[in-house]
Amino acid sequence: MADLAPPSLDAPPEEVARTAAAAPDWASLEVAASGCLACPELSAARQHVVVGDVATGGRPRFVLVGEAPGAQEDQTGRPFVGRSGALLDQLLAQAGLDRAQGAVLNVVKCRPPGNRTPKAAEVARCSGWLHRQLELLDAPAVVALGLSAAKWFLGPRTVLAQVRGRPHEVDGRAVWATYHPSAAIRFGPNGAPRAALAEDLAAVAASL
Ligand code: URA
Ligand code: SF4
Repeated sequence: MADLAPPSLDAPPEEVARTAAAAPDWASLEVAASGCLACPELSAARQHVVVGDVATGGRPRFVLVGEAPGAQEDQTGRPFVGRSGALLDQLLAQAGLDRAQGAVLNVVKCRPPGNRTPKAAEVARCSGWLHRQLELLDAPAVVALGLSAAKWFLGPRTVLAQVRGRPHEVDGRAVWATYHPSAAIRFGPNGAPRAALAEDLAAVAASL
């Protein structure tokens, strides 16, 4: 099969969604997403589209979804490899979850300049990729890290403190929402977000 044409400059969300939905497998999605130009500001500034990491060897046990790549992710093309990623790896290990058995994704695949919060239009454009990724991966549990990801799954009025600690059924999948590792870093090792994130990852592990 010929490669899917990546979405062109300023392509609307529907075009991204159509392209993503047509990807028969992870490899073709990765090729198409890597050339995506839909968001003019983000595609002009990025080094890499951070499509996501998948589990080695088949269906992942869990999928983690962050907000958007930061500087080190943009440079390397891999999700959660910077400071947040280091803490995430530590807390996953502590919870008994092996990152290599999971998939790691973001709501938005290109780094927003200065690490600003992704705009609603960028989230809307990039959503087609994430929808198709979740379908292809078909993991038993999804963990939304931080408010951007939590809102993507649970709606714009989501309050993390109210939804964390238990699974929510979304499109037939168990979706957990918890704090972002960057919040755990900001509030320090004895802060509430770090304790909550550790507790929630342990609950996810226990559910598998
Ligand atoms: N923060 C995120 O939300 N995602 C990353 O990949 C890195 C930092
Ligand atoms: Fe395409 Fe998503 Fe990057 Fe926007 S953020 S250019 S939709 S891959």
